[in-house]
Amino acid sequence: MQTIFSGIQPSGTITLGNYIGAMKQFTELQEEYNCYFCIVDQHAITVPQDRLELRKNIKSLAALYIASGIDPDKVTLFIQSEVPAHAQAGWMMQCVAYIGELERMTQFKDKSTGKEAVSAGLLTYPPLMAADILLYGTDLVPVGEDQKQHLELTRDLAERFNKKYNDIFTIPEVRIAKVGARVMSLQDPLKKMSKSDPNNKAFISMLDDPKQIEKKIKSAVTDSEGIVKYDKENKPGISNLLSIYSILSGKSVEDIEKEYEGKGYGDFKADLAKVVIDVIEPIQKKYFELIDSPELDAILDQGAEKANRVAGKMIKKMENAMGLGRKRK
Ligand code: AQP
Repeated sequence: MQTIFSGIQPSGTITLGNYIGAMKQFTELQEEYNCYFCIVDQHAITVPQDRLELRKNIKSLAALYIASGIDPDKVTLFIQSEVPAHAQAGWMMQCVAYIGELERMTQFKDKSTGKEAVSAGLLTYPPLMAADILLYGTDLVPVGEDQKQHLELTRDLAERFNKKYNDIFTIPEVRIAKVGARVMSLQDPLKKMSKSDPNNKAFISMLDDPKQIEKKIKSAVTDSEGIVKYDKENKPGISNLLSIYSILSGKSVEDIEKEYEGKGYGDFKADLAKVVIDVIEPIQKKYFELIDSPELDAILDQGAEKANRVAGKMIKKMENAMGLGRKRK
């Protein structure tokens, strides 16, 4: 059975973008793959976090994974900082990476441009991400399009390590969903939807209530043409809404366009809100049953135990390959 690794940062409550680009795919993949799904809290601290908020977001993300359909009996669900091998392997991969290639990462440029104090971790986050993936002999990484560049770097670093030290890493393939790989901001459809966007109207959080969802979709930026038609270049706002509608309803974009021929954006947006609420409401119901339950802690304990076991073996191989410490079996 092939292995999958993917992570989500607890840097806020996950958005509909994270759900469509990542989590929805995970629930389909868990049936056929050996899956490791990780709450990457060490990535979240590359930008400032409030400690109590972070703690809350970690548990909340764990509950949302399960509420979205992740079956803890089929997958390994765990918190990155509870598996020290990630930080250990992350350091080794930092020593394999070059500063130049890290400075070229668009996410680093986006998150650091114009900021006064940029953490070193924001620059060295991709080698930690490479470590996360490589520790589990991962064959496939399902992510949204924004992570493609980091995945290419992971492959480069793994190949460099294999060539320079010892051939121990599986070179992972990236899997990007055909539709919905990049859900855009509701307020600026040229920017991706992000959970840390300071403008709350730009994203739909998986914990927004129906009223908030209706309001946010109603105020989503579109154009003045009033025709429901997919045209990413000239009508990015409506095209983004059409993609969301299509993915969540299972209808094709063409069928939706036909359905709204001669109708305005008002009808379309009201129906889209219903489609979104229909998907989110059952997830929230399950979420509220889980969030304060001892079951959730037990799942995370079990996940950490398995991840520690598997990752610990790879750490030994990496240290032996690099000549760190004394030779270990
Ligand atoms: N807008 C998006 N559309 C589709 N997929 C997306 N993903 C993120 N945004 C979108 C995918 O979600 C997974 C988890 O991402 P992450 O939390 O690790 O980091 P991110 O990509 O930086 O997500 P955010 O929401 O933008 O977080 P912040 O605001 O903290 O930077 C990944 O598979 C990602 O591709």
